[in-house]
Amino acid sequence: MALSINAVRLIGRLDQLGQLGLAADGRRTRLAASDADKAGRDLLAAWIAEAGLELAVDRVGNMFGIWRGAAAASNLDPVMVGSHIDTVIDAGQYDGCYGVLAGLEVIETLKASGQAPARPLVVAAFTNEEGVRYAPDMLGSLAFAGGLSVEAALATVGTDGTTLGAELARIGYAGPLQPGFITPHAYVELHIEQGPVMALDGVPIGAVENLQGISWQRVSIKGVANHAGTTPMRLRHDAGHAAARVITFLRDLARGGGASVATVGCLAFEPNAINVIPSKATFTVDLRDPDEVRLQQMEAALVACLAEVAAQEGVSVATERLARFAPVVFDPGIVGMVERAAGQRGLRHRRMTSGAGHDAQMMARLCPAAMIFVPSTGGISHNPAEHTPSPDLVAGANVLLDVVRRLADSPG
Ligand code: GLV
Ligand code: MN
Ligand code: MN
Repeated sequence: MALSINAVRLIGRLDQLGQLGLAADGRRTRLAASDADKAGRDLLAAWIAEAGLELAVDRVGNMFGIWRGAAAASNLDPVMVGSHIDTVIDAGQYDGCYGVLAGLEVIETLKASGQAPARPLVVAAFTNEEGVRYAPDMLGSLAFAGGLSVEAALATVGTDGTTLGAELARIGYAGPLQPGFITPHAYVELHIEQGPVMALDGVPIGAVENLQGISWQRVSIKGVANHAGTTPMRLRHDAGHAAARVITFLRDLARGGGASVATVGCLAFEPNAINVIPSKATFTVDLRDPDEVRLQQMEAALVACLAEVAAQEGVSVATERLARFAPVVFDPGIVGMVERAAGQRGLRHRRMTSGAGHDAQMMARLCPAAMIFVPSTGGISHNPAEHTPSPDLVAGANVLLDVVRRLADSPG
């Protein structure tokens, strides 16, 4: 008979975790390794203990709840599920948290069923998935998968001048274990879609077969500060205007067809005064495309644009790489399992490309990995209005349960 997760417990925990990091103005922000993140981690650690799982924390703060169960005596690699509990600024409550809490729910459900799987099960909450405070994004899972040294990860300087290592130590989550201390048999991440496709199609389950490449850079443009009233337009070296040209160029570039997207999410002028021509503009560029060649073409177009703007505006330009990840193709075997599990529960499903970055893209370096999506109402995410109806959240968790059972009983 099909097992099902405890819907009331899952939804209740999502709401409870979602209360942490809420400011007096109602904005929810739990940046990686902040006090609010510590509160979220403490709550997760309590739930892991309550579920009777072993809590493990690695040196970059990744948290794991491990159930060895009947598999304790075997040396079979575990099946890992999970995501992250850090958030962007002014976030919703489902991004990442859903994958972690549904993963915990799946393990608790299996534990209570008395049907212990052949492989151990692990739920993971990776550090700094969002990359808002410390770049790159997916930093914890990248380090876990061996793509970033522990030393480099801990030395990462945040937007507020802190270092990740010092902040993890301060909040008590600089653990003893070496990232990568577990080699999973497989990794499956359940996540809200964070886009409009599934809600528009009325499809409750997405079998995610690939994830687009991500290119993050910081651009600094230096011009000359001067008087806003006395400096003729033709004699200006306006870093602000130069930035505006680049921002407009990127929008036009990405709208030129295909699946490319381009975003400037941070912008700062110096000296930032109403009557002073900006001497400096600093902004971030987030470019994404499922096709590596097209992503490289966008990066090259940005280089050419910056050179042209520098020459025409008489400004100087510098760029700093913050993140660069190639597109990832997920394991077709697990993608097929997601489709079959959804079909067996009578749930419509479709194949998806992930537009967002996820820890699964890093874990795919270590083991077969894939993702399951559920719809996001109105396609809204990275926004407090982010929402997924409870029946969809429960359906996704039950599909995760079925896929995990299958993987955990698979030999080899
Ligand atoms: C993570 O949320 C990302 O895709 O930027
Ligand atoms: Mn996420
Ligand atoms: Mn996110």
